[in-house]
Amino acid sequence: MTHLLLGCAFTKSVLHAVLARAGALCCLPRPSEDLVDWLLAGARRLQGKVKAARSLINLSLWQIWKLWNACIFEGASPDVARLVEDIFVEADLCRAAGARALSQLAHLPLHARPPDFGPSSIPV
Ligand SMILES: *[C@@H]1O[C@H](CO)[C@@H](O)[C@H](O)[C@H]1NC(C)=O
Repeated sequence: MTHLLLGCAFTKSVLHAVLARAGALCCLPRPSEDLVDWLLAGARRLQGKVKAARSLINLSLWQIWKLWNACIFEGASPDVARLVEDIFVEADLCRAAGARALSQLAHLPLHARPPDFGPSSIPV
């Protein structure tokens, strides 16, 4: 778990890209922190936006975990840029569903308009 969510190069790249775009680079894991230390302390470094940072970190780790499973069980291939986009799309959906803390972060929302769930958007 520590390797997957903290040590592996793919995770480091994803976390760096996500937190940079959100203006939250101070929340990145520090070399002195293990996984538990980081989960406790990382988001607290973004003062005044701790909940937002925690939500984004949680969401990122969840998406990394899901992609890891898709790679193992479904033959998916890891792509940093694509996962980062997926994380921000998810963040927008969470925000639209009521996770207001996420709005405190820089560059959220990232999409010009909310997803269109109208009948015309349903693929046939
Ligand atoms: C983040 O995940 C931790 C661990 O599951 C949980 O305790 C916390 O409530 C979550 N925080 C947010 C803001 O989602």
